[in-house]
Amino acid sequence: MSGTLARNPASEFPVARTVEAVRLAVREARAAGRSIGLVPTMGALHEGHARLIEACRAEAEFVVVSIFVNPTQFGPGEDFSQYPRTFEADLALCARAGAHAIFAPGVEVLYPHGGGSTFVEVPGPSALLEGAMRPGHFRGVATVVLKLLQAVGPDVAAFGLKDYQQLAVIRRMVADLLVPTRLLAVATVREADGLAMSSRNRYLDGPQRRAAVVLSQALRRASAAVQDGEGDADRVRQILRESVESEPLARLEYAEVADAETLEPLAGPHGSQRAVALLAVRIGPARLIDNTILPERAPRCS
Ligand code: PAJ
Repeated sequence: MSGTLARNPASEFPVARTVEAVRLAVREARAAGRSIGLVPTMGALHEGHARLIEACRAEAEFVVVSIFVNPTQFGPGEDFSQYPRTFEADLALCARAGAHAIFAPGVEVLYPHGGGSTFVEVPGPSALLEGAMRPGHFRGVATVVLKLLQAVGPDVAAFGLKDYQQLAVIRRMVADLLVPTRLLAVATVREADGLAMSSRNRYLDGPQRRAAVVLSQALRRASAAVQDGEGDADRVRQILRESVESEPLARLEYAEVADAETLEPLAGPHGSQRAVALLAVRIGPARLIDNTILPERAPRCS
């Protein structure tokens, strides 16, 4: 079936299972004068993903959504085998959000040499925070994103600010490897109570789901403190830590205040430097991350 597009009977949505098939779809779209967008995902799609597809549609005339649970970005003991797989519902969401084609390859398509494949190592932001907690994670992310960019060859590709560090790593890779794709950064989509939407929120039971609001609350408190003139990064970290620790079901992995470009921890008052606050918290079976760009600090009145 290589080189052809399978039509999904339920949704009549074109699903490419091979690199040849997705390239054919892209070639036809380009021949019709359309620009190409790509939204890489691991499926289990939610409104955050829908917003990425819509943002991509606003910038490109033919939008491919990739759905691939990438084994190389999961560490041993992580949730690769449990990761939710909801393909039929994903197709429906893609159709509703205005995507034009799905690229859903098997593992052997993206990793023809298995564990002996070529990998991409991105220096700088890869080593910190998520990279320190999840060794090899960003190596897997960078590798699969480069493969997806190579398979589709998009003019633009959309990524969420929800995974702030991931976007920093991908920006660095795209710049270093001269990838001719423009990156779109899309704001985090949240539930009504502030919880950032995530495929992993499905792991939470009722009490855990209610507890999970603590991440966005902590980030809001930190932002408010900076807005009110707090300029000491350690004090902002302490506000984040104390907020998370006030929730008995939450176990903090890190609470960081970092340079918004390099993701290096900020030592002192951040002055005019753009800063981002980042959190990783375990609640029951879920490991959740969230972040916010901190506002400009108000001058302190004494
Ligand atoms: P996944 O977690 O499925 O996310 C796909 C894209 O959706 C990422 O760019 C992510 O930042 C964005 N996203 C997730 N939740 C969001 C939210 N609440 N608001 C806005 N955007 C959101 O991230 C990955 O997959 C993978 O690492 C991938 C890049 C596909 C490589 O395998």
